[in-house]
Amino acid sequence: MKVHFTETVLRDAQQSLIATRLPFEQFESILETINKAGFYSIECWGGATFDSCLRFLNEDPWERLIKIKKKCPDTKLQMLLRGQNLLGYRHYPDDVVRKFVENSIDCGIDIIRIFDALNDLENIKVSMEETVKRGALASGAISYTTSPVHTIKKFAAMSKEMKKMGASTICIKDMAGVMSPKEAYDLVSAIKDALPDTPVVLHTHSTTGLAFMTILKAVEAGAEIIDTAISSMSGGTSQPATETLAYALKQLGYEVDLDEKALVDINNHFKPIRDAFLADGTLDPLVMATDTQALNYKIPGGMLSNLISQLKAQNAMDKLDAVLTETPIVRKELGYPPLVTPMSQMVGVQATTNVLLGERYKNIGKEVKAYCKGEYGTPPGKIDPEVMKKALASEEPIKGRFADTLEPLFEKTKKELGATAKNDRDVLSYIAFPQVAEKFFENRKAFEEREVTYTIEEIK
Ligand code: CO
Repeated sequence: MKVHFTETVLRDAQQSLIATRLPFEQFESILETINKAGFYSIECWGGATFDSCLRFLNEDPWERLIKIKKKCPDTKLQMLLRGQNLLGYRHYPDDVVRKFVENSIDCGIDIIRIFDALNDLENIKVSMEETVKRGALASGAISYTTSPVHTIKKFAAMSKEMKKMGASTICIKDMAGVMSPKEAYDLVSAIKDALPDTPVVLHTHSTTGLAFMTILKAVEAGAEIIDTAISSMSGGTSQPATETLAYALKQLGYEVDLDEKALVDINNHFKPIRDAFLADGTLDPLVMATDTQALNYKIPGGMLSNLISQLKAQNAMDKLDAVLTETPIVRKELGYPPLVTPMSQMVGVQATTNVLLGERYKNIGKEVKAYCKGEYGTPPGKIDPEVMKKALASEEPIKGRFADTLEPLFEKTKKELGATAKNDRDVLSYIAFPQVAEKFFENRKAFEEREVTYTIEEIK
């Protein structure tokens, strides 16, 4: 059996380790080598890369993608998309979702991995449909979590639904790195039973130290594609190392198509980059270490550190145990949402508020209210009726898909922006991150004006 590798260094690895601060010019010279290394795909776009390009790196994310494509014509480029949320946390109307998918594919994306934080398929159907329509591959992703309502049977049924919606592969997305080898083996086996001919992708993080074992058991159960990061940018909150898995899997008799020399070159390229980020403090050595707290508390590492900093800020660290007891109760009452952004923050803040105020749900966060109303989609389980009553007060819950209640936005925004937007991609950047994009456009304009003045001076 052949095992395919998706290299994550340009997206998830750098997002997890260095808060997505990798500028294009720092990896431009290694792209041709990555292109020829034999990867199944290069995850290089989507997630936080888009926001970070505009906000911190003064780069046009669309142009970055076009430039990557030029240097990597032979390997599929992959992006991560939060379904109806695109790259953010709020819902966009369908016209924006379709335009975004269309432009991503036009600029060079070959595979779009699509997920929803609640695993609500209504939130991924439009992006899925548009991806397939535009001739790219859609990878349907399961946001992996454990709870009494998240059963292997349900995940297998969800996979079947995504296949019907046009998914070419099914991805198990374990964003917190909490999936155990046994859970991976059982879940991959169940998905393979349900869909014998559909490749299964395993995405996990090394945070808790389980990742190598989890991937190995997933491969044993039939997962064909694994997400890994080149070793210098691997481990900790990032993915497990590409070279290590290639070495081990080959020895076990799996076919691996990676060019070892290319992997050495890629790793040598990123080593000094990692060291520079370590030296300037962008990369905290702690995030590269193993942290098993998530396994004890059943709370993702990032959420736990948020809870602790919230309590510290309130001078209430003595309440940590109470908050850690309250958190799973709130999660249950909210219908067991997977603890990913923004649900992890909602559950965490609500649990903290419940404890600190000494009365449960005395104060309910704005987001929790919107969630109960149905603005994030359908929760995996049932929301506790008492909590629902308090959260909604006199308001009615939304019937059906929240996106159906949103007015089309693209053409209207395009008109409003006028000459500020040079093309449809600028309009999409603006819709996704209005203030950040506006500032980016201003910088760009100032830069171009300087350029022009300079040229005129030269002529004089
Ligand atoms: Co990830």
